[in-house]
Amino acid sequence: MAIPFIDLGTQRARIGAKIEAGVLKVIGHGAYIMGPEVKAFEADLATFAQSKHALSCANGTDAIELILLGLGIGAGDAVFVPAFTFVATAEVVPMTRAEPVFVDIDARTYNIDPVKLEAAIEAVIAEGRLKPAAIIAVDLFGQPADYPALKLIADKYGLPLISDAAQGFGGTIDGKQPLEWAVATATSFYPAKPLGCYGDGGAVVTNDDVLQDRLISYRVHGGATAADAAAAKFEHETKYLNVRIGMNSRLDTIQAAVLIEKLAIFAEEIELRQVVAKRYNEALEGFVTSVPYVKDGYVSTWAQYTIEHENRDGLQLHLREKGIPTAVYYPIPLHQQPGYAGFTSGTRNLSVSEAKSKTVISLPFSPYLTAETQNEIVEAIKSFKG
Ligand SMILES: Cc1ncc(COP(=O)(O)O)c(C=O)c1O
Repeated sequence: MAIPFIDLGTQRARIGAKIEAGVLKVIGHGAYIMGPEVKAFEADLATFAQSKHALSCANGTDAIELILLGLGIGAGDAVFVPAFTFVATAEVVPMTRAEPVFVDIDARTYNIDPVKLEAAIEAVIAEGRLKPAAIIAVDLFGQPADYPALKLIADKYGLPLISDAAQGFGGTIDGKQPLEWAVATATSFYPAKPLGCYGDGGAVVTNDDVLQDRLISYRVHGGATAADAAAAKFEHETKYLNVRIGMNSRLDTIQAAVLIEKLAIFAEEIELRQVVAKRYNEALEGFVTSVPYVKDGYVSTWAQYTIEHENRDGLQLHLREKGIPTAVYYPIPLHQQPGYAGFTSGTRNLSVSEAKSKTVISLPFSPYLTAETQNEIVEAIKSFKG
């Protein structure tokens, strides 16, 4: 049987009947938009994230944009983002008319480098064109960014720290989730993510009541919050009093029904992911340029298991010939993407991101990857003589 890059089938065999029952229930009651499962899932998600609020939305990209809108980010603002991440992290910034400022990453964790972040903030201040306004840290490949160090810098410059945990939702530092340090965490339920649904989906978790109110408003066309409606003495449906320019970004009720079942086993799956990653580490150490490095006290959710190899493209071809799928996240850092060439503020010292984009390669991974299949993958890697 072909080895899948991300195996969703084994999980489906495990909880498929429960998911189908949940989906059929939604089809039966007919509340396809903002139905009871959406509220129930948001409550479960807040419990999991140990957050005061959880707000679901249409995808992980919107989740980040909603946070920026809720924080009032806009024209003339600089938002600091890692240069080595999925484009969505940076893409939402110009959508608010602010500008992304690219920051280099730490060579071992692939996450935004706090020292380089501070240098980039200073460069923007010295340049004087943009106002530093927010930091978005990304938990790349599943490992939380260095939130304790980032928070010190965020506080020094009075900037909100946002967590893009689309890949690392559920990851922890000394048992604490990024919300311990960040004002809000965004995540994605894209099917291949550690906590994915059967389509698009996303969420924001936060402990901030004011931000949550604004997120609720921006999620549905900038409709009035309870306070807005009271102040305006507006007595109709709040979405028909539009106090902000918002968006339409709701999680489908059917997806919420899927996620309720998946979230119920998510903590256990994060444990299983540790076992699979450990097996890979032990088998591959010394045979490739590097195996993933996870900092002491950090728990990764292993959205990707990413190694480095000096002849990355040769290894990819070799594995493809043996029927083993791999992926390159990411072959071009964001500051070198054509669409982003106009954003040149910051230090522009992005050499680690540039180097990593040439050597990283991600291997098949899932919590249910068997030792036998993993062995096949490892042997194929070891047989590469490039
Ligand atoms: C780091 C990161 N941020 C944001 C996103 C956007 O999520 P979505 O695809 O649900 O919009 C993704 C995933 O695709 C991601 O990997």
